[in-house]
Amino acid sequence: MNQGTSLVGKDLGLGNALKFVEHESGLVQGVVSTPRVQGSFFLLGGHVAEFQPAGQEPVLFLSERAVFEEGKAIRGGIPVCLPWFGPKKNEAGEVDANAPSHGLVRTELWQVGSATLEDDVVSVSLEYQLEGLQLKNLVRFGTELSMSLSLLNESEQPAEIELALHTYFKVGDVASVKIQGLEQIGFLDQLSGQTWPATGEAIEFSEETDRIYHGDASRVVLVDPEKARRIKVDSQGSRSTVVWNPWIEKSKRMADFGDHEYPEMCCIETANIRPNQVRLGPGEGTEVSLKISVAPI
Ligand code: BG6
Repeated sequence: MNQGTSLVGKDLGLGNALKFVEHESGLVQGVVSTPRVQGSFFLLGGHVAEFQPAGQEPVLFLSERAVFEEGKAIRGGIPVCLPWFGPKKNEAGEVDANAPSHGLVRTELWQVGSATLEDDVVSVSLEYQLEGLQLKNLVRFGTELSMSLSLLNESEQPAEIELALHTYFKVGDVASVKIQGLEQIGFLDQLSGQTWPATGEAIEFSEETDRIYHGDASRVVLVDPEKARRIKVDSQGSRSTVVWNPWIEKSKRMADFGDHEYPEMCCIETANIRPNQVRLGPGEGTEVSLKISVAPI
């Protein structure tokens, strides 16, 4: 299938359900509109930006200061982070200051491999070749949003890969939400470097929060009393979960994030990182998938 600007204005046979438009930034944007859902994605990063099931408010946070530019990451939606998470480190643990945060693929242009419409659900395969690693992000926009990120090592060498589907959720007020499903898992506090045992309690936010949980978190629920909704995050193939909110000071340090925006969002990231990074021998593949659904409280 064609890629880049050549997709703009092309009728892919999906009618109004999927249109490729030129975003005001000049990037190509896929816009989804069916009786079930409104949504959008960018070829930049193979990135889902918006998801709004019919009758609901937007589910994903997208910063008003997000930058849409090749070579930069979009602040919000669902960035795909890979083949490393956070700063790139060498085997001795030293940070490579020249390497981009969260890997190489969220800032590159992906291709559309296929797009189909069935039962008012738009499915799009977003694809990228990272040297010997073939990536496919199969996204389905319906009443639920589902994503399956598959990796295939086509090289002759083994590959070690960290990956994360770095979902930014829109919330009424982060100080009143609860995250359920991680109560029985200990975590690494990325801010202090300390590891903590399981708390037995739902996560609440009252300060900058940046935690990595390693363990089975196949159902995480974001309970949002202000918006009177629960967002369910069901995943498969993920053994790490990251929970993040930048709070006040870090918000000020991020150029592509409004100072006042931190109460409106939190990230729950479906990942395989650090000790749970993926090891793929030649010819081996793996898949991580995610399903996001909304229910009233
Ligand atoms: C989170 C990390 O996943 O992403 C945080 O745990 C980081 O440490 C945040 O600050 C945002 O990263 P970036 O590279 O998009 O600014």
